[in-house]
Amino acid sequence: MISDLDAQTTEKALMLTLDGEKVSFEAGETIYEVAERHRREIPTLCYDERLEAFGACRLCIVEVEGIRNPVASCTTQATEGMVIQTKTEAIEKHRKTLLELVASENRDVDVNQLSGYASQELKILVDRYDARSGRFSGKKSGTSNTKDKNPFILRDYDNCISCYRCVRVCAEREGDYAINVMNRGFDTQIITEFNNDLRDSECTFCGQCVQTCPTGALGDKKALRDSDTEGEIEKTRTICPYCGVGCSVDMLSKGDKIVGIQPAMDGPANEGALCIKGQFAFDFIQNADRLKKPMIRREDGELHECDWDEALNFAAAGFAKVRDKFGRHSVYGIASGRAPHEAAYTMQKYIRATYGTNYIDNCSRA
Ligand code: SF4
Ligand code: SF4
Ligand code: FES
Repeated sequence: MISDLDAQTTEKALMLTLDGEKVSFEAGETIYEVAERHRREIPTLCYDERLEAFGACRLCIVEVEGIRNPVASCTTQATEGMVIQTKTEAIEKHRKTLLELVASENRDVDVNQLSGYASQELKILVDRYDARSGRFSGKKSGTSNTKDKNPFILRDYDNCISCYRCVRVCAEREGDYAINVMNRGFDTQIITEFNNDLRDSECTFCGQCVQTCPTGALGDKKALRDSDTEGEIEKTRTICPYCGVGCSVDMLSKGDKIVGIQPAMDGPANEGALCIKGQFAFDFIQNADRLKKPMIRREDGELHECDWDEALNFAAAGFAKVRDKFGRHSVYGIASGRAPHEAAYTMQKYIRATYGTNYIDNCSRA
């Protein structure tokens, strides 16, 4: 008799044929996932690996033996014995025509890199397929909402290709449902409820829609302010300085100036997500009013710069005075969410041992 375990271990690997090569796959994988794992370059526009596959752009089509028309690889599950071709002459011609249609319909293909993380996807594919032919003309879709006064997100739908990545990321990853789709065909329009400004919607300005948009139709207004600033854009991988989650980000700079933030799609803590602070509130770093040295308010009532020893002694004396006058529970320690574990540990040790109270907390709990 074969036990369940034996049955599992003796189960045959699932196999299919990919461009003539026999490859294995796991139940539930799509053709696209199998092909990507085996280093096939299948172009996509409506695909974002973090989202449910949608099947809108048809760029990822492949030929499957026994099926008359090409199928979208991102929405078609791999099955045992499938024979798949990912790059035939006919498929590549089809992809080029699709891109020519899109390129002729969008006002700009060459959008600024500062628009967002995925903003160059369409441009890269159009160039790869030499699809700026201008063969197609006629009605254009998309009505830009550049009058939306929100300070963070440019909504330039003349460059929208109706991939719905923005709508899906807002719903699936953020759970906000702040934007949706109105009408169909050439009249398709990405809108908020009642088609108002984003500030009047459920939007939390997390920026996820901006960063997944493959055409720059949604753009990072703050980063785009520095479009004309001299210098090449440099990306530096770092950690968001705000809360204790530790989201990975790519800091964009030109020369000495920080011009924007993009989420790291491979960040282990955030997988491309950020909140409004991590995404847009980076200006404080280079604000001229930022304190760079400790200060003490002296007897003249004014703040004066001092060194760290003096500042720490002054603060310690102040705490001791409060404790002596009002008792040990009058002191309360809160560790900053920006502080590492070691600093948080030191804080609680200091408060407990020095003042004899357990009144401690961490601002990340807020
Ligand atoms: S910024 Fe975030 S919450 Fe607002 S529409 Fe975009 S994805 Fe949704
Ligand atoms: S705005 Fe961008 S992400 Fe949203 S549907 Fe249009 S092209 Fe896609
Ligand atoms: S990427 Fe598969 S249909 Fe768009």
